[in-house]
Amino acid sequence: MPAIETLALSHYYRLNRAVDQISFQVKEGTVFGLLGPNGAGKTTTIKMLTTLLPPTSGTAKVLGHDIIENPEAVRQKIGYVPQLISADGDLTGYENLVLSANLYGLNVEKREKRIELLLEFMHLKGDADRLVKQYSGGMIRKLEIAQALLHHPKVLFLDEPTVGLDPSAKKGIWFIIDEWVKNYNTTIMMTTHDMNEADKLCDILAFMHQGHVIVMDTPDKLKSTLGGNATLDDVFIHYTGASVNQGNINHVQDTRRTISHLD
Ligand SMILES: Nc1ncnc2c1ncn2[C@@H]1O[C@H](COP(=O)(O)OP(=O)(O)OP(=O)(O)O)[C@@H](O)[C@H]1O
Ligand SMILES: [Mg+2]
Repeated sequence: MPAIETLALSHYYRLNRAVDQISFQVKEGTVFGLLGPNGAGKTTTIKMLTTLLPPTSGTAKVLGHDIIENPEAVRQKIGYVPQLISADGDLTGYENLVLSANLYGLNVEKREKRIELLLEFMHLKGDADRLVKQYSGGMIRKLEIAQALLHHPKVLFLDEPTVGLDPSAKKGIWFIIDEWVKNYNTTIMMTTHDMNEADKLCDILAFMHQGHVIVMDTPDKLKSTLGGNATLDDVFIHYTGASVNQGNINHVQDTRRTISHLD
């Protein structure tokens, strides 16, 4: 049974076909990278798979559970770190972890044991009692990943886990993801705009463009198909580059529209 299977999964925001009939499978224990330009549909896909956004049509299964028919079963088995910061800055790291543990219904004994282990795993033990608003970006991301791992999910969704982090903080997160997958055989679906990161971390990559999955393969296969000394940056441009500029302009316009609504 695949860990994740999408079946003509689609989401339209009015006329915008953000995700348009995507169908693919992710094997258990895989680190799967969903790549593509701004606005390609990556976050929308993850929101559907985590049952936060209903599909317009099609469906998906996570560990065999249908996201429409059985969202509760899906939620119990997944962890999710959203693209935007989700930890509460007015609480300490420890308090944020307690909040998540209570959300997952862990009893006090299990909660304290897992918080202790995860703080150690993330090298956050010394900062557990500091307010999160005093944390660096890398520390916040590590805390958020810890929050999403407290109930030992079988599938973990990470939407841009390292955006804005310095190279050494990034490497810290790569190490954590790698170690966790090795120890717990967790399946990971992640997004990133850092092709070096995708190359180093992911077993399989799917490139999305304008709501479609254009190509899906191992990083090595994708590079060798282009020949010579092609890098994943070359692969990215090859499959999505033709209209990257247009895509970015649309995205900037969308963002400006959103901001003007907030005024
Ligand atoms: N809440 C929303 N309402 C309307 N349109 C949306 C909404 N969220 C996203 N979109 C649009 O859906 C499309 C896909 O957006 P999505 O956020 O899934 O892209 P993405 O691949 O995650 O991009 P990025 O790399 O910038 O995070 C874009 O055209 C975007 O403007
Ligand atoms: Mg996104």
